[in-house]
Amino acid sequence: MAALARSVLRYSARHEAAASDSFADHVIYGLGENPRWLSAKYFYDAAGSELFEEITRLPEYYPTRTELKILADHAREMSALIPLAAALVEFGTGSTKKARILLDASPQISAYVPVDISAEFLAQEAANMRRDVPNIAVLPVAADFTRDFELPAQIRNRPRVGFFPGSTIGNFDPHDAAEFLRQAGRILGAGATMIVGVDRIKDEAVLNAAYDDAAGVTAKFNLNVLTRMNRELGSNFDLSAFRHRAFYNAADRRIEMHLESLKQQTVTVAGRTFEFRKGETIHTESSYKYTVESFRALAQSAGWRPVAVWTDERDYFAVHALKI
Ligand code: AVJ
Repeated sequence: MAALARSVLRYSARHEAAASDSFADHVIYGLGENPRWLSAKYFYDAAGSELFEEITRLPEYYPTRTELKILADHAREMSALIPLAAALVEFGTGSTKKARILLDASPQISAYVPVDISAEFLAQEAANMRRDVPNIAVLPVAADFTRDFELPAQIRNRPRVGFFPGSTIGNFDPHDAAEFLRQAGRILGAGATMIVGVDRIKDEAVLNAAYDDAAGVTAKFNLNVLTRMNRELGSNFDLSAFRHRAFYNAADRRIEMHLESLKQQTVTVAGRTFEFRKGETIHTESSYKYTVESFRALAQSAGWRPVAVWTDERDYFAVHALKI
């Protein structure tokens, strides 16, 4: 399979895949590989999106609140890097909460361009944004941002600032993350700025707890993909015969989430049977972690120049500014 197609399959968007990537085809392909895997983007059906919102409020899950605090504490410095009349282009807008912090601190921004695969979700967010921030042009683009897409003609002559918060970039393998950054540079064009949120390497116990919380919400989130397959693909996964596993893989600098089969069993998915050995897993997500230096090197390899970085007092998370 071509590298880019693979990258798209592995990418975890907040919303549905483009119509051309069928869920059934993906599942049959991924479950047939050794080790078995599924793209993390399939977590986010309605129930999965709600469980993710619940995750962001867990005491162990530090990324969301840490990044929000970094944005709030340093919004003026970020704003100082944003040119007059700039358009803010957000990749994969799960919620506009973070963009609003930048917009509030940057009256010079003239347009907000949320790019998301879910047209319905975008229309709702755009309407809210137009109501709350009437002075800027809200120009949503319904597209899979991991593929090539066109910016709205209205911003052709405006400086562009890309915004990719949430450490969503961590769901890509490093090679695909560089490919994404290179493509974002092509789309935004010469002279553009990019503001990216990236989770950092830290104490393994902190990382492990963030993805295996005491209340079991992340376990529910992980297992929900089995419920989704049962409903949408007519599969017969027994949720009590699988368990959530999450751990930091230090060699690859990533959290891995898996669903582990608790017994030898046969599961039927879309008319095919899959034999699971006891202890065998389905790899459902990778969440890569970076040092400030390793992320800068990655960005540089993709043609971007690091210009600033902001962090929190525990050094848990980083917000990078890049120029091209
Ligand atoms: C939305 C991809 C940034 O990797 O931390 C949270 C998803 N998975 N808990 C992350 C997630 C399990 C999250 N991202």
